[in-house]
Amino acid sequence: MKIGFIGSGAMAQALAEKWRGKHDLFFSGRNLEKAAQVAAGFGAKSGPAAEAAAFGEVVVLATRWEDALDAVAQAGGDAAFASKVVIDINNPVSVETFLTTRDDGRSLTQALAEALPGAELGKAFNMAQAAVWADPDMTYDGRTLVTLFTADSERASEVIAGLIRDVGSEPLRLGGNAHAYQLEAAAAIVIKFLFAGRDPHTVFNFIQPDVRAIR
Ligand SMILES: NC(=O)c1ccc[n+]([C@@H]2O[C@H](COP(=O)([O-])OP(=O)(O)OC[C@H]3O[C@@H](n4cnc5c(N)ncnc54)[C@H](OP(=O)(O)O)[C@@H]3O)[C@@H](O)[C@H]2O)c1
Repeated sequence: MKIGFIGSGAMAQALAEKWRGKHDLFFSGRNLEKAAQVAAGFGAKSGPAAEAAAFGEVVVLATRWEDALDAVAQAGGDAAFASKVVIDINNPVSVETFLTTRDDGRSLTQALAEALPGAELGKAFNMAQAAVWADPDMTYDGRTLVTLFTADSERASEVIAGLIRDVGSEPLRLGGNAHAYQLEAAAAIVIKFLFAGRDPHTVFNFIQPDVRAIR
């Protein structure tokens, strides 16, 4: 599959490390020299964001969250992303308040979907750090990491699930993009504890595995 990255930073590189050899990759950035250096490390192509969008059957939005909406506009907007599967990995979370920055109860994913009505969007890979995605062994506490994702279309869901399997994780669809806000809010909790130097496992490991259902 052809995958274009808008952004070539920590997350793009961590995911690309897992997808190299399985998919054709294309990196972009504001600084084209930096993007070219990253691409060279993967034997991949690079260029401006518009070219990454044109290249990809799948386009990964891997700028900082503050830049995501501008970046898709600069890459050519809806026409440039029409019929692409677009993966939003961003966490719109303030590292001062540790709250999501969208106060209307809607997600950045939904704002991106509104900006790109011709694309098939989903949210994935936002719940763990770049170092986790780069980890060659995604087994933690004896269990394979489960990656929650959202997508509105069946095609986006299938493609994203496949790419999650390709990083060594197990996909689990939370629902449509109406659920993306929950993923962003959950990431805000993880990020708060990471910044506080506390292991988020101690916070999220609160469910007894033998409890199957709550009635
Ligand atoms: N880092 C993590 O552990 C982690 C984990 C989960 C989710 N996330 C989310 O993933 C996103 C990316 O994080 P990151 O740590 O990978 O960021 P990063 O290392 O700062 O990289 C950001 C990249 O975006 C590029 N960029 C910025 N504006 C652009 C534009 N208009 N067009 C094209 N490229 C542009 C930058 O290129 P230039 O350098 O050329 O400006 C840079 O390559 C964030 O929204 C974050 O919330 C991060």
